[in-house]
Amino acid sequence: MIQNMCVIKDLQEHEVPAAAAMLIALPLMNRYRATKERLDVQLRQALCQPGIAVIVARPDEPGAEIAGLAWFATEGTFLMGGYLKLLALADQYRGKGLGRKLLDVVESRVRVRSPYLFLLASDDNEAAHRFYERLGYVQAGRFEHLVLDDVNELVYFKKLV
Ligand SMILES: CC(C)(COP(=O)(O)OP(=O)(O)OC[C@H]1O[C@@H](n2cnc3c(N)ncnc32)[C@H](O)[C@@H]1OP(=O)(O)O)[C@@H](O)C(=O)NCCC(=O)NCCS
Repeated sequence: MIQNMCVIKDLQEHEVPAAAAMLIALPLMNRYRATKERLDVQLRQALCQPGIAVIVARPDEPGAEIAGLAWFATEGTFLMGGYLKLLALADQYRGKGLGRKLLDVVESRVRVRSPYLFLLASDDNEAAHRFYERLGYVQAGRFEHLVLDDVNELVYFKKLV
């Protein structure tokens, strides 16, 4: 199983260009008009921000590519929860349980600080809705055109404790 072969660790500064490159290859990032340069800067900032974490999954072998990433806040959302800003896998690592493994790590890191985890998903990202709903997330509302004029964001949350 591919998820058992991956190790999950905090993103290190020297891994930022590879993480930005993995993300910019995703259609989701293009849609949200991300650029590799901006992602690079934002990931570096995330490494210095208290309460923000970025974890990456890589196959457990020397020089392996980044398979997936989760970027999250452990507290502060509505003054009661963590917030999952981004969970994404490179295409060839999807559908094998690695997303769930990353999310398990996120939840265990948030749980010690906050009782809830919140996230947003584009309203047309049905694969993501199924994924989160399978893992106990409840749709709790909708922000119209929050980030982009032509996309609405669905609010999901899970009670962790
Ligand atoms: C959403 C995501 C994190 C889920 O992680 P995952 O490890 O793939 O999750 P699962 O193993 O449960 O598989 C999810 C679905 O992808 C399907 N799948 C299988 N192979 C796939 C592939 N090569 N590419 C895309 N989806 C695939 C699975 O069959 C499953 O479909 P289902 O929901 O109809 O049952 C991951 O698919 C991803 O990175 N998506 C792109 C970024 C994204 O949309 N992130 C969420 C933003 S809110």
